[in-house]
Amino acid sequence: TKNLTIAIDGPAAAGKSTVAKKVARRLSYTYIDTGAMYRALTWKAIQAGISLNDEKELSGLLSKTKIDLVQTKEGQSIMLDGKDVSLEVRTQEVTNQVSFTAKHKTVREAMVERQRQLVKTRGVVMDGRDIGTHVLPDADVKIFMVASVEERAERRHIENQEKGFASDLEQLKEEIRQRDAIDSTREYSPLVKAEDAIEVDTTSLSIDEVVERILTIVEKTK
Ligand code: C5P
Repeated sequence: TKNLTIAIDGPAAAGKSTVAKKVARRLSYTYIDTGAMYRALTWKAIQAGISLNDEKELSGLLSKTKIDLVQTKEGQSIMLDGKDVSLEVRTQEVTNQVSFTAKHKTVREAMVERQRQLVKTRGVVMDGRDIGTHVLPDADVKIFMVASVEERAERRHIENQEKGFASDLEQLKEEIRQRDAIDSTREYSPLVKAEDAIEVDTTSLSIDEVVERILTIVEKTK
């Protein structure tokens, strides 16, 4: 059996990272969360008081920024200049603004370059918005995960409640719609299904069912 590269793309809150992590674990592959990288830069820019609309400032900031994904017992941590910001990058503040960071051409080019360098050996599951179309166009398996806005918002809502966070279902729907709209309509590598990607609609599936479905596709490809 050979080691593959697996690209998982799709809209916000479709369960990509949860599924990608599990698929990676089952195959003993490396999981690479590209969204966390855009989130880390967004967090740093907010802290530094840099406008997310200022492409020049943002790419300048990125060029001076170290972003590492480290494997931990629990999964993966995102390190920003050596500091663990795994919790910070998941705040509402970052979630609702990260798409503005991710619009800029020069920011994306630098991120894509970093992401490709992370694929040193094969045996990788990478998730994001432009992995199958742009970062890894030659990926062996390309999955495009979709689910209705209602379903995605509801899952996030339950997750928030379980964590004891305040959560408003209607607001979540609006935020997910907003983020998808920005990600899908931006000029540079927008969120779009790659021609050769297999679409997996997770609306009525459990996480484990999605994982099994993807593993079946991977087995057929091997
Ligand atoms: O996957 P996640 O929700 O963490 O991604 C956060 C944001 O980062 C996305 O909404 C998108 O704006 C951006 N992103 C991107 N390209 C990727 C991964 C994430 O533009 N490959």
